[in-house]
Amino acid sequence: MPVLDQSYVTNGSWKPDLFKGKVVFITGGAGSICSVQAEALVLLGADAAIVGRSKEKTDKAAKDIATLRSGAKVLSLPEIDVRSVQSLKKAVDKTVEELGRIDFVIAGAAGNFLADFNHLSSNAFKSVVDIDLLGSFNTVKACFEQLRKNKGSIIFVSATLHYYGVPFQIHVGAAKAGVDALSNALAIELGPLGIRSNCIAPGPIAETEGMDRLSRGKLDEIKHKVPLQRLGTKQDIADATVYLFSPAGSYVTGDVLVVDGGSWQVSQGVGAADYPVSIVKYLNAPKGGKL
Ligand code: HXC
Repeated sequence: MPVLDQSYVTNGSWKPDLFKGKVVFITGGAGSICSVQAEALVLLGADAAIVGRSKEKTDKAAKDIATLRSGAKVLSLPEIDVRSVQSLKKAVDKTVEELGRIDFVIAGAAGNFLADFNHLSSNAFKSVVDIDLLGSFNTVKACFEQLRKNKGSIIFVSATLHYYGVPFQIHVGAAKAGVDALSNALAIELGPLGIRSNCIAPGPIAETEGMDRLSRGKLDEIKHKVPLQRLGTKQDIADATVYLFSPAGSYVTGDVLVVDGGSWQVSQGVGAADYPVSIVKYLNAPKGGKL
């Protein structure tokens, strides 16, 4: 079931048909945050290509999102692994064939799990860096001709956990730091072509796969540490997305828009509630254990 509905258009901050005639290509588009980014853009007039690994999940997300606006075209592109640029190029070709163009790209595909350094294998580290960082590079690489033709705009879904040290998130922090660097450099290189590149860094967002994995049942504790005293909503991230892709964001590039209620300024990370006791306990645990 979609999270947003018609009231996003009728009572929301954005004008209807804001993105009429535009097409967005979203990796991780069936995921808990990216599917709602897609919902907002489709409600405001865009067509969308939902890119994912699981056929069932991607088909369902595309079907659900298409119900939000009469005449919306939402293409399901399952069985695409962002670690393969060839597989992404096929998805881009299919999108252009079916939807005519690509204006906006969201690089949202990500992998995550909690693991301390002692139990994080080189291959586990590489898997996350490959999905988050190489996958983001591959996504833009595959979409580049469309972005150039349409003076498009890119949003990378980043994080805040590389602004400081977060235990159990070495792999994700390293990957997301790379994503920020990638976005900044693309903003400089591609700016003269009229292409914008920005990151959104979500903080603790309720009812997301990331929070489910990372909060470990400590949602209330996390909420009370947020300066704005609430968890974020998926709509908070959708609104940031609409802003960055809209004409209101047309002079914004090379930026990281942090949407976290002020959390990172006061946080030591969601995995750090029982730090440092937990670190020693996990580092000393027998090899092969997983959090
Ligand atoms: C330690 C683990 C592990 C765990 C996997 N590995 N899970 N190590 N603890 N819990 C290790 C494996 O043992 C293996 O290493 C290596 O990682 C690769 O695992 P595979 O299963 O072969 O990889 P793959 O099938 O490619 O899966 C990638 C994945 C997986 C990242 C490991 O979790 C995945 O596909 N996730 C996608 C969905 C997802 O994570 N969504 C959450 C996004 S939320 P060895 O050495 O044994 O070969 C998010 C929020 C970020 O990203 C921001 C937070 C604030």
